[in-house]
Amino acid sequence: MSKNICFIDGLEGILKYRDVDINELIDLPYDAVSYLLIRGELPGKQELAEYSARLHAERGINREVMDIIRMCNLNIDAMEALRTVVSFISQFDPDLNDNSQEGNMRKAIRLIAVVPTIVAAYYRTANGKEPVPPDPSLSHGANFLYMIKGIKPDPLEAEIMEKDFILSAEHELNASTFSSRVTASTLSDLYSAVVSGLCTLKGPLHGGARAEVMTMLEEIASPENAEMYVLEKIKKREKIMGFGHRVYKTYDPRGTIFKQLSRRLAEVKGDMRWYSIAEEIENNVIRELVEKRGKPIYPNIDFYSGVIYKYMEIPPQLATSIFAIGRISGWIAHCFDQYEKKRIIRPRIFMLDEC
Ligand code: CMC
Repeated sequence: MSKNICFIDGLEGILKYRDVDINELIDLPYDAVSYLLIRGELPGKQELAEYSARLHAERGINREVMDIIRMCNLNIDAMEALRTVVSFISQFDPDLNDNSQEGNMRKAIRLIAVVPTIVAAYYRTANGKEPVPPDPSLSHGANFLYMIKGIKPDPLEAEIMEKDFILSAEHELNASTFSSRVTASTLSDLYSAVVSGLCTLKGPLHGGARAEVMTMLEEIASPENAEMYVLEKIKKREKIMGFGHRVYKTYDPRGTIFKQLSRRLAEVKGDMRWYSIAEEIENNVIRELVEKRGKPIYPNIDFYSGVIYKYMEIPPQLATSIFAIGRISGWIAHCFDQYEKKRIIRPRIFMLDEC
Protein backbone atom coordinates (compact mmCIF):
# COMPACT_ATOMS: atom_id res chain seq x y z
CA MET A 1 0.00 0.00 0.00
CA SER A 2 2.79 2.47 0.86
CA LYS A 3 3.97 2.32 -2.75
CA ASN A 4 0.87 3.99 -4.10
CA ILE A 5 0.51 6.78 -1.53
CA CYS A 6 2.84 8.64 -3.86
CA PHE A 7 4.52 8.05 -7.20
CA ILE A 8 7.40 10.19 -8.47
CA ASP A 9 9.16 9.88 -11.81
CA GLY A 10 12.15 12.11 -11.20
CA LEU A 11 13.37 11.93 -14.80
CA GLU A 12 10.06 12.78 -16.44
CA GLY A 13 8.90 15.17 -13.69
CA ILE A 14 5.72 13.26 -12.82
CA LEU A 15 4.07 13.31 -9.40
CA LYS A 16 0.95 11.36 -8.39
CA TYR A 17 -0.86 10.99 -5.11
CA ARG A 18 -2.64 7.62 -4.93
CA ASP A 19 -2.20 7.20 -8.69
CA VAL A 20 -3.80 10.57 -9.52
CA ASP A 21 -1.55 13.08 -11.32
CA ILE A 22 -0.87 16.30 -9.38
CA ASN A 23 -2.16 18.33 -12.34
CA GLU A 24 -5.57 16.67 -11.91
CA LEU A 25 -5.62 17.25 -8.16
CA ILE A 26 -4.66 20.89 -8.20
CA ASP A 27 -8.18 22.26 -8.74
CA LEU A 28 -9.79 20.17 -5.96
CA PRO A 29 -10.34 21.41 -2.41
CA TYR A 30 -7.48 20.56 -0.03
CA ASP A 31 -9.93 18.53 2.06
CA ALA A 32 -10.55 16.20 -0.91
CA VAL A 33 -6.81 15.68 -1.42
CA SER A 34 -6.30 15.11 2.30
CA TYR A 35 -9.11 12.52 2.23
CA LEU A 36 -7.54 10.86 -0.82
CA LEU A 37 -4.18 10.53 0.92
CA ILE A 38 -5.52 9.25 4.21
CA ARG A 39 -8.36 7.06 2.99
CA GLY A 40 -6.83 5.92 -0.29
CA GLU A 41 -9.50 7.16 -2.69
CA LEU A 42 -11.15 10.43 -3.65
CA PRO A 43 -14.30 11.22 -1.67
CA GLY A 44 -17.76 11.40 -3.19
CA LYS A 45 -19.78 14.59 -2.65
CA GLN A 46 -21.38 13.35 0.58
CA GLU A 47 -18.13 11.90 1.95
CA LEU A 48 -16.32 15.17 1.26
CA ALA A 49 -19.05 17.20 2.95
CA GLU A 50 -18.84 14.97 6.04
CA TYR A 51 -15.03 15.02 6.14
CA SER A 52 -14.93 18.83 5.77
CA ALA A 53 -17.59 19.23 8.47
CA ARG A 54 -15.51 17.10 10.86
CA LEU A 55 -12.40 19.15 10.08
CA HIS A 56 -14.24 22.45 10.52
CA ALA A 57 -15.59 21.31 13.89
CA GLU A 58 -12.07 20.59 15.16
CA ARG A 59 -10.41 23.86 14.11
CA GLY A 60 -10.75 25.69 17.41
CA ILE A 61 -8.20 26.04 20.20
CA ASN A 62 -9.03 26.61 23.87
CA ARG A 63 -7.72 29.04 26.48
CA GLU A 64 -5.05 26.63 27.79
CA VAL A 65 -3.58 26.31 24.30
CA MET A 66 -3.59 30.09 23.96
CA ASP A 67 -1.75 30.34 27.30
CA ILE A 68 0.97 28.03 25.95
CA ILE A 69 1.19 30.06 22.75
CA ARG A 70 1.63 33.26 24.78
CA MET A 71 4.40 31.57 26.79
CA CYS A 72 6.37 30.75 23.62
CA ASN A 73 9.25 32.97 22.61
CA LEU A 74 7.43 35.38 20.29
CA ASN A 75 10.53 36.10 18.19
CA ILE A 76 11.09 32.66 16.77
CA ASP A 77 10.06 30.85 13.58
CA ALA A 78 6.45 29.68 13.82
CA MET A 79 7.68 26.08 13.35
CA GLU A 80 9.28 26.09 16.81
CA ALA A 81 6.04 27.19 18.42
CA LEU A 82 4.02 24.72 16.35
CA ARG A 83 6.22 21.81 17.43
CA THR A 84 5.86 22.81 21.09
CA VAL A 85 2.09 23.30 20.95
CA VAL A 86 1.36 20.05 19.06
CA SER A 87 3.36 18.22 21.70
CA PHE A 88 1.47 20.04 24.47
CA ILE A 89 -2.04 19.37 23.15
CA SER A 90 -1.34 15.66 22.66
CA GLN A 91 -1.63 15.10 26.42
CA PHE A 92 -5.29 16.11 26.40
CA ASP A 93 -6.44 14.01 23.46
CA PRO A 94 -8.57 11.18 24.90
CA ASP A 95 -7.43 8.97 22.01
CA LEU A 96 -3.71 9.68 22.50
CA ASN A 97 -2.62 6.06 22.93
CA ASP A 98 -5.53 4.46 21.08
CA ASN A 99 -3.84 3.15 17.96
CA SER A 100 -7.00 1.56 16.55
CA GLN A 101 -8.02 2.72 13.07
CA GLU A 102 -10.93 4.71 14.53
CA GLY A 103 -8.77 6.31 17.24
CA ASN A 104 -6.11 7.24 14.72
CA MET A 105 -8.68 8.72 12.32
CA ARG A 106 -10.12 10.91 15.11
CA LYS A 107 -6.61 12.15 15.98
CA ALA A 108 -5.79 12.68 12.30
CA ILE A 109 -8.81 14.94 11.84
CA ARG A 110 -8.04 16.92 14.99
CA LEU A 111 -4.42 17.40 13.96
CA ILE A 112 -5.10 18.43 10.34
CA ALA A 113 -7.80 20.83 11.51
CA VAL A 114 -5.99 22.49 14.40
CA VAL A 115 -2.47 22.99 13.03
CA PRO A 116 -3.39 26.04 10.88
CA THR A 117 -5.14 27.62 13.88
CA ILE A 118 -2.06 27.17 16.08
CA VAL A 119 0.21 28.74 13.44
CA ALA A 120 -2.15 31.70 12.91
CA ALA A 121 -2.73 32.26 16.64
CA TYR A 122 1.02 32.23 17.28
CA TYR A 123 1.65 34.62 14.41
CA ARG A 124 -0.97 37.12 15.54
CA THR A 125 0.13 36.93 19.17
CA ALA A 126 3.76 37.47 18.13
CA ASN A 127 2.62 40.59 16.27
CA GLY A 128 0.66 41.97 19.23
CA LYS A 129 -2.75 41.14 17.72
CA GLU A 130 -5.70 39.17 19.04
CA PRO A 131 -6.09 35.70 17.47
CA VAL A 132 -8.92 35.39 14.94
CA PRO A 133 -11.22 32.39 15.52
CA PRO A 134 -11.62 30.01 12.55
CA ASP A 135 -14.53 30.53 10.16
CA PRO A 136 -16.26 27.21 9.37
CA SER A 137 -17.69 28.61 6.13
CA LEU A 138 -14.19 28.97 4.63
CA SER A 139 -11.96 26.40 2.91
CA HIS A 140 -8.71 25.24 4.54
CA GLY A 141 -6.68 27.80 2.56
CA ALA A 142 -9.09 30.73 2.84
CA ASN A 143 -9.61 30.13 6.56
CA PHE A 144 -5.86 30.11 7.20
CA LEU A 145 -5.39 33.44 5.42
CA TYR A 146 -8.39 34.84 7.27
CA MET A 147 -6.91 33.76 10.63
CA ILE A 148 -3.54 35.37 9.92
CA LYS A 149 -4.77 38.59 8.30
CA GLY A 150 -8.03 39.12 10.15
CA ILE A 151 -9.96 39.95 6.97
CA LYS A 152 -11.71 37.74 4.44
CA PRO A 153 -9.03 36.93 1.84
CA ASP A 154 -8.97 37.98 -1.77
CA PRO A 155 -10.38 35.01 -3.83
CA LEU A 156 -7.18 34.58 -5.89
CA GLU A 157 -4.98 34.52 -2.78
CA ALA A 158 -7.36 32.03 -1.13
CA GLU A 159 -7.22 29.82 -4.22
CA ILE A 160 -3.42 29.94 -4.27
CA MET A 161 -3.16 29.08 -0.58
CA GLU A 162 -5.44 26.07 -1.12
CA LYS A 163 -3.24 24.95 -4.03
CA ASP A 164 -0.11 25.50 -1.94
CA PHE A 165 -1.44 23.09 0.70
CA ILE A 166 -2.22 20.55 -2.06
CA LEU A 167 1.23 20.82 -3.65
CA SER A 168 2.89 20.49 -0.24
CA ALA A 169 0.70 17.60 0.93
CA GLU A 170 2.77 14.58 0.01
CA HIS A 171 6.12 13.62 -1.47
CA GLU A 172 6.96 10.00 -0.89
CA LEU A 173 9.79 9.18 1.51
CA ASN A 174 11.24 12.66 1.99
CA ALA A 175 13.18 13.32 5.21
CA SER A 176 10.24 14.45 7.37
CA THR A 177 7.92 11.67 6.18
CA PHE A 178 10.65 9.12 6.85
CA SER A 179 11.08 10.59 10.31
CA SER A 180 7.31 10.36 11.01
CA ARG A 181 7.24 6.78 9.73
CA VAL A 182 10.14 5.75 11.97
CA THR A 183 8.28 7.12 15.00
CA ALA A 184 5.03 5.38 13.98
CA SER A 185 6.95 2.14 13.36
CA THR A 186 7.67 1.92 17.08
CA LEU A 187 3.86 2.07 17.60
CA SER A 188 4.26 5.44 19.28
CA ASP A 189 1.24 7.75 18.96
CA LEU A 190 0.27 9.89 15.96
CA TYR A 191 1.05 13.21 17.69
CA SER A 192 4.62 12.04 18.36
CA ALA A 193 4.96 11.01 14.72
CA VAL A 194 3.75 14.44 13.57
CA VAL A 195 6.14 16.20 15.99
CA SER A 196 8.99 14.12 14.49
CA GLY A 197 7.91 15.30 11.03
CA LEU A 198 7.83 18.93 12.17
CA CYS A 199 11.31 18.71 13.72
CA THR A 200 12.71 17.31 10.47
CA LEU A 201 10.86 19.59 8.06
CA LYS A 202 12.28 22.75 9.61
CA GLY A 203 15.84 22.19 8.36
CA PRO A 204 17.04 24.54 5.57
CA LEU A 205 17.83 21.63 3.24
CA HIS A 206 14.16 20.54 3.49
CA GLY A 207 11.13 22.77 4.26
CA GLY A 208 13.25 25.60 5.63
CA ALA A 209 14.49 26.44 2.11
CA ARG A 210 11.29 28.40 1.38
CA ALA A 211 12.07 31.05 4.00
CA GLU A 212 15.65 31.26 2.69
CA VAL A 213 14.32 31.87 -0.84
CA MET A 214 12.39 34.86 0.48
CA THR A 215 15.50 36.25 2.14
CA MET A 216 17.44 35.72 -1.11
CA LEU A 217 14.81 37.63 -3.14
CA GLU A 218 15.10 40.56 -0.74
CA GLU A 219 18.88 40.47 -0.83
CA ILE A 220 18.94 40.51 -4.65
CA ALA A 221 16.29 43.27 -4.66
CA SER A 222 16.25 43.84 -8.43
CA PRO A 223 16.40 41.58 -11.56
CA GLU A 224 19.66 43.22 -12.71
CA ASN A 225 21.44 41.88 -9.59
CA ALA A 226 20.40 38.26 -10.10
CA GLU A 227 23.23 37.24 -12.43
CA MET A 228 25.96 38.52 -10.12
CA TYR A 229 24.33 36.79 -7.15
CA VAL A 230 24.15 33.41 -8.93
CA LEU A 231 27.72 33.64 -10.25
CA GLU A 232 29.05 34.52 -6.78
CA LYS A 233 27.21 31.59 -5.18
CA ILE A 234 28.58 29.18 -7.77
CA LYS A 235 32.10 30.59 -7.38
CA LYS A 236 31.93 30.09 -3.61
CA ARG A 237 30.43 26.59 -4.15
CA GLU A 238 27.39 27.58 -2.11
CA LYS A 239 23.89 26.21 -2.70
CA ILE A 240 21.25 28.43 -4.26
CA MET A 241 18.14 27.98 -2.20
CA GLY A 242 15.03 26.59 -3.92
CA PHE A 243 17.07 24.67 -6.51
CA GLY A 244 18.02 21.02 -6.82
CA HIS A 245 16.32 17.89 -5.64
CA ARG A 246 17.39 14.40 -4.59
CA VAL A 247 14.73 12.77 -6.78
CA TYR A 248 13.91 15.22 -9.61
CA LYS A 249 16.56 15.48 -12.28
CA THR A 250 14.33 17.71 -14.37
CA TYR A 251 11.69 20.38 -13.55
CA ASP A 252 9.83 19.62 -10.31
CA PRO A 253 6.15 19.56 -11.42
CA ARG A 254 5.15 21.38 -8.21
CA GLY A 255 7.67 24.12 -9.01
CA THR A 256 6.17 24.49 -12.47
CA ILE A 257 2.65 24.97 -11.06
CA PHE A 258 3.95 27.41 -8.44
CA LYS A 259 5.70 29.36 -11.20
CA GLN A 260 2.44 29.73 -13.16
CA LEU A 261 0.59 30.77 -9.99
CA SER A 262 3.21 33.33 -9.03
CA ARG A 263 3.10 34.87 -12.51
CA ARG A 264 -0.69 35.09 -12.33
CA LEU A 265 -0.49 36.77 -8.93
CA ALA A 266 2.20 39.20 -10.12
CA GLU A 267 0.11 40.19 -13.14
CA VAL A 268 -3.08 40.66 -11.13
CA LYS A 269 -1.20 42.81 -8.61
CA GLY A 270 0.44 44.75 -11.43
CA ASP A 271 3.86 44.26 -9.84
CA MET A 272 6.31 41.98 -11.65
CA ARG A 273 9.29 42.76 -9.39
CA TRP A 274 9.56 39.55 -7.31
CA TYR A 275 8.57 37.35 -10.24
CA SER A 276 11.15 38.98 -12.52
CA ILE A 277 13.94 38.59 -9.94
CA ALA A 278 13.01 34.92 -9.58
CA GLU A 279 12.90 34.33 -13.32
CA GLU A 280 16.31 35.96 -13.71
CA ILE A 281 17.73 33.72 -10.96
CA GLU A 282 16.20 30.68 -12.68
CA ASN A 283 17.57 31.64 -16.12
CA ASN A 284 21.05 32.14 -14.70
CA VAL A 285 21.03 28.88 -12.73
CA ILE A 286 19.82 26.93 -15.77
CA ARG A 287 22.50 28.51 -17.99
CA GLU A 288 25.37 28.13 -15.50
CA LEU A 289 24.57 24.81 -13.85
CA VAL A 290 22.42 22.85 -16.32
CA GLU A 291 23.68 24.04 -19.69
CA LYS A 292 27.36 24.80 -18.96
CA ARG A 293 28.08 22.25 -16.20
CA GLY A 294 25.55 19.51 -16.99
CA LYS A 295 24.14 19.43 -13.43
CA PRO A 296 20.40 18.72 -13.15
CA ILE A 297 19.64 21.66 -10.85
CA TYR A 298 16.12 23.00 -11.50
CA PRO A 299 13.72 25.05 -9.34
CA ASN A 300 12.06 22.93 -6.67
CA ILE A 301 8.80 23.40 -4.73
CA ASP A 302 10.35 26.03 -2.47
CA PHE A 303 11.45 28.49 -5.15
CA TYR A 304 8.33 30.03 -6.68
CA SER A 305 6.33 29.42 -3.49
CA GLY A 306 8.74 31.89 -1.87
CA VAL A 307 7.84 34.37 -4.62
CA ILE A 308 4.14 33.89 -3.91
CA TYR A 309 4.65 34.66 -0.21
CA LYS A 310 6.36 37.93 -1.12
CA TYR A 311 3.25 38.99 -3.05
CA MET A 312 0.89 37.75 -0.36
CA GLU A 313 2.94 39.54 2.32
CA ILE A 314 3.47 36.34 4.24
CA PRO A 315 6.67 36.72 6.31
CA PRO A 316 9.53 34.16 6.14
CA GLN A 317 8.75 33.29 9.77
CA LEU A 318 5.59 31.50 8.53
CA ALA A 319 6.93 29.87 5.37
CA THR A 320 7.95 26.47 6.76
CA SER A 321 4.88 26.13 8.94
CA ILE A 322 2.69 26.65 5.84
CA PHE A 323 4.55 23.74 4.27
CA ALA A 324 3.77 21.73 7.43
CA ILE A 325 0.05 22.57 7.28
CA GLY A 326 -0.09 20.98 3.84
CA ARG A 327 2.29 18.09 4.53
CA ILE A 328 0.54 16.82 7.65
CA SER A 329 -1.95 14.79 5.56
CA GLY A 330 0.95 13.03 3.82
CA TRP A 331 2.70 12.26 7.12
CA ILE A 332 -0.51 10.80 8.49
CA ALA A 333 -1.16 8.68 5.38
CA HIS A 334 2.32 7.18 5.77
CA CYS A 335 1.87 6.65 9.52
CA PHE A 336 -1.40 4.77 8.93
CA ASP A 337 0.41 2.57 6.46
CA GLN A 338 3.23 2.02 8.92
CA TYR A 339 0.83 1.12 11.77
CA GLU A 340 -0.64 -1.61 9.54
CA LYS A 341 2.81 -3.09 9.01
CA LYS A 342 3.44 -3.37 12.78
CA ARG A 343 7.16 -3.60 12.07
CA ILE A 344 9.86 -1.35 13.47
CA ILE A 345 12.09 0.49 10.96
CA ARG A 346 15.64 -0.31 11.94
CA PRO A 347 18.19 0.26 9.16
CA ARG A 348 21.82 -0.78 9.59
CA ILE A 349 24.51 1.91 9.75
CA PHE A 350 26.07 0.96 6.40
CA MET A 351 22.76 1.80 4.69
CA LEU A 352 23.44 5.48 5.47
CA ASP A 353 26.22 5.40 2.89
CA GLU A 354 23.52 5.23 0.22
CA CYS A 355 21.55 8.20 1.62
N1 CMC B 1 22.68 25.19 -5.81
C1 CMC B 1 23.90 24.95 -6.36
N2 CMC B 1 24.41 23.72 -6.51
C2 CMC B 1 23.64 22.71 -6.10
C3 CMC B 1 22.37 22.88 -5.55
C4 CMC B 1 21.89 24.19 -5.41
N3 CMC B 1 20.70 24.43 -4.87
N4 CMC B 1 21.84 21.68 -5.23
C5 CMC B 1 22.76 20.78 -5.58
N5 CMC B 1 23.85 21.39 -6.10
C6 CMC B 1 25.06 20.76 -6.60
C7 CMC B 1 25.97 20.40 -5.42
O1 CMC B 1 26.85 21.43 -5.10
C8 CMC B 1 26.66 19.16 -5.93
O2 CMC B 1 27.70 19.56 -6.80
P1 CMC B 1 29.07 18.73 -6.88
O3 CMC B 1 28.68 17.38 -7.38
O4 CMC B 1 29.92 19.51 -7.83
O5 CMC B 1 29.62 18.70 -5.49
C9 CMC B 1 25.60 18.47 -6.77
O6 CMC B 1 24.72 19.50 -7.19
C10 CMC B 1 24.79 17.44 -5.98
O7 CMC B 1 24.33 18.08 -4.80
P2 CMC B 1 23.89 17.31 -3.49
O8 CMC B 1 23.79 18.27 -2.36
O9 CMC B 1 24.78 16.10 -3.31
O10 CMC B 1 22.45 16.79 -3.93
P3 CMC B 1 21.44 16.11 -2.97
O11 CMC B 1 20.61 15.23 -3.77
O12 CMC B 1 22.14 15.54 -1.79
O13 CMC B 1 20.64 17.37 -2.36
C11 CMC B 1 19.14 19.08 -2.02
C12 CMC B 1 19.39 17.74 -2.72
C13 CMC B 1 17.70 19.50 -2.23
C14 CMC B 1 19.39 18.93 -0.52
C15 CMC B 1 20.09 20.13 -2.62
O14 CMC B 1 19.83 20.28 -4.01
C16 CMC B 1 20.03 21.45 -1.91
O15 CMC B 1 20.67 21.61 -0.87
N6 CMC B 1 19.24 22.43 -2.43
C17 CMC B 1 19.09 23.72 -1.79
C18 CMC B 1 18.12 23.63 -0.63
C19 CMC B 1 16.71 23.43 -1.10
O16 CMC B 1 16.21 24.12 -2.00
N7 CMC B 1 16.01 22.50 -0.44
C20 CMC B 1 14.60 22.19 -0.75
C21 CMC B 1 14.51 20.82 -1.35
S1 CMC B 1 12.94 20.46 -2.11
C22 CMC B 1 11.80 20.48 -0.85
C23 CMC B 1 12.04 19.52 0.24
O17 CMC B 1 12.42 18.38 0.03
O18 CMC B 1 11.75 19.91 1.35
